[in-house]
Amino acid sequence: MITITLLSLIITLSLSTITLLLFTASRRKLRSPPGSIGLPFIGETFQLIAAYKTENPEPFIDSRVSKYGTVFTTHVFGERTVFSADAESNRFILQNEGRFFEASYPSSIANLVGKHSLLLMRGSLHRRMHSLTMSFANSTIIKDHLLVDIDRLVRLNLDNWTGRIFLMEEAKKITFELTLKQLLSIDPCEWTENLRKEYMLVIEGFFCIPIPFFSLTYRRAIQARKRVTEALHLVVRERRVEREKGVKKNDMLAALFDSDCDDVTFSDDEIVDFLVSLLVAGYDTTSTTMTLAVKFLTDTPSALAQLKEEHEEIRKRKGASVALEWDDYKSMPFTQCVVNETLRLSNIISGVFRRAMSDVKIKDYTISKGSKVFASLRAVHLGQDNFEDARVFNPWRWQKTSDLTNFMPFGGGPRRCPGYELARVALSVFLHHLITRFSWIPAEEDKLVFFPTTRTQKRYPIIVQRRNVVVE
Ligand code: HEM
Ligand SMILES: *[C@@H]1O[C@H](CO)[C@@H](O)[C@H](O)[C@H]1NC(C)=O
Ligand SMILES: *[C@@H]1O[C@H](CO)[C@@H](O)[C@H](O)[C@H]1NC(C)=O
Ligand SMILES: *[C@@H]1O[C@H](CO)[C@@H](O)[C@H](O)[C@H]1NC(C)=O
Repeated sequence: MITITLLSLIITLSLSTITLLLFTASRRKLRSPPGSIGLPFIGETFQLIAAYKTENPEPFIDSRVSKYGTVFTTHVFGERTVFSADAESNRFILQNEGRFFEASYPSSIANLVGKHSLLLMRGSLHRRMHSLTMSFANSTIIKDHLLVDIDRLVRLNLDNWTGRIFLMEEAKKITFELTLKQLLSIDPCEWTENLRKEYMLVIEGFFCIPIPFFSLTYRRAIQARKRVTEALHLVVRERRVEREKGVKKNDMLAALFDSDCDDVTFSDDEIVDFLVSLLVAGYDTTSTTMTLAVKFLTDTPSALAQLKEEHEEIRKRKGASVALEWDDYKSMPFTQCVVNETLRLSNIISGVFRRAMSDVKIKDYTISKGSKVFASLRAVHLGQDNFEDARVFNPWRWQKTSDLTNFMPFGGGPRRCPGYELARVALSVFLHHLITRFSWIPAEEDKLVFFPTTRTQKRYPIIVQRRNVVVE
């Protein structure tokens, strides 16, 4: 008896010595990235906001990178944050989703996207739903099924353009209509336009400073979310009834219904949250990229001229058939350069927030468990060491490089954007019809700003003129 007690005592003692040794060893190695954390609570938030409200926010990052290196510590939006402007570290962070890091959204955003959103899912459920989303938006599906509607809806919208338009507004309308068609097979009508108005209120809530009880914008967003989900609930219920009668549709909602055949079934609440989050993720991103592509092209006439040539060539070849097909999309090499360069330079999602799930080593530093991390895609895309003349719009650079290690506009790892191909196709089709039908000039000077989101200050007003060149 005594020996056993003694033995266990010795084991306990030696275990705790080992623990103590390990602990001091890790203490010694534990060096968090250097940086400055500014004022108490506010940190460097105001400096960041001030920088990103201008056309040239880069000095905020440049000055810290030159002082501390590409991985540094700052303090923004109420929390100490490790900021990575380093491509390799970013890839490591994104690829280790669920192992060393996990996505982290403030509760104000979680309330707006809904708790069953893909953005908030974790682990095996996330893997399954991410791959379901991918298999609804992969290139086979786009080629066989989605492209026809993308092409038709873009043309339908462009048919209506005359005189002065706000390109940003028009691009949003197009993107929303495309998404509703793809998710629910609903064609543009008064109902979709009303839903979009509500939707814009929800989106505004994402970017206001979220003090729920005080912010009017946020309260309005929450109320609008309620109306949006009610409207979608009705659609889902109707579709369930139709489905029981044997009506088959080929869209995301059908994929969600079908996937519940095997083991789990999705409730209407889950389905609605899921749809809302897809609408959120695709709406501002794609429409802003469309707008900025046109702005960059307008400001770079030689690129616009070359793009025009490429698309007129396609028009000539197709003769009377207006609708674009997959082969047409695949024969737009310069367009793909323009798309990549727009994504690189505009960085609609400037980076992603993560939280460290354990102590993690990055470069020579240790990021301690629970730390907030911001993997900045923008800082890498605009880093002078990563791209030559990194801050200039130069689509031709993509004809030379095949090195994509520094290019991650859609993120990476298990949370890589499932809409990346869809966004590319929508952009290319949009550019094709715009360029072959219209010429345009900016109606006013307009500037890019980056806070709270990347956009142009005046929604990019342009004056369009129908081209009467008939290409045979
Ligand atoms: C130019 C357009 C787009 C850009 C630049 C973009 C960018 C991104 C990025 C960087 C992420 C990663 C977020 C993270 O790692 O936390 C992401 C995620 C996501 N994107 Fe996109 N996106 C675009 C268009 C779309 C479209 C059209 C859809 C619609 C299907 C979409 C759906 C999603 C979803 C659902 C996620 C969350 C994935 C997850 O958390 O597993 N995106 N997007
Ligand atoms: C796309 O998803 C479908 C299922 O929806 C699948 O049959 C097809 O093989 C996938 N294609 C690619 C290129 O992954
Ligand atoms: C085009 O304009 C007409 C009249 O203003 C409007 O009724 C119709 O809904 C518009 N179509 C599209 C696709 O925006
Ligand atoms: C554009 O970027 C994608 C990666 O997002 C890459 O696969 C593609 O090859 C690039 N296209 C060109 C023309 O560089």
